[in-house]
Amino acid sequence: MNMDQNIIYFITGNIHKYNEISAFFNKENLNYVLKQKNIKTIEVQAESIKEIALYKLESIKGQVNGSYFIEDAGFFVDTPLNGFPGVYSSYVMKTLGNKGILRLIDDFEKTQAHFTSSIALYFKPLDKNLIFEGDVYGRVSKTIRGSGGFGFDPIFLPNVMPDSTFAELTTDEKNKISHRGKAWRKFTKFLKENTI
Ligand code: IMP
Repeated sequence: MNMDQNIIYFITGNIHKYNEISAFFNKENLNYVLKQKNIKTIEVQAESIKEIALYKLESIKGQVNGSYFIEDAGFFVDTPLNGFPGVYSSYVMKTLGNKGILRLIDDFEKTQAHFTSSIALYFKPLDKNLIFEGDVYGRVSKTIRGSGGFGFDPIFLPNVMPDSTFAELTTDEKNKISHRGKAWRKFTKFLKENTI
């Protein structure tokens, strides 16, 4: 077998995402090796995280030898912000940050929010683009809490563990319930069924 054949590249410059995904990878007995590659992808403005992820994947076509994936996520405050920041999450994190989001909310008891994750994979053995998605639902915390995780983690209270923000959980605890964890488990199932 060609030695490169069982490498899967995770195209990301975000070390937090890489750490979460490699924590999953190390727990599974997969016939693949995970490697990080930092290539500049093109981020388009689109209506859904899935479209953004697939566009990013296409934008690096021909630049990687073998199978590779990218992961794109969004944070949606469904009540009271009608899904904002959603597909603008990355820009809003840089401009308003968590403090800015909290300033837009009056009644924290009534908030509803979710994260979505889309893993877009180019799978060389099938010469195909594939997508794996996951969501996690919860509320917005009144205050910024916790030092773990990244991004919007310190203001998100998942419904299944409503007393802790994502930033107060360990990586393993977050992975068990997170949007990325759910997308990841679908991805793993696919890899197990398509072992080369
Ligand atoms: P992207 O997937 O890197 O485009 O992420 C968009 C924005 O959402 C960035 O500001 C990230 O920091 C944030 N983000 C992505 N994934 C997570 C997560 O798992 N928890 C909290 N924030 C996240």
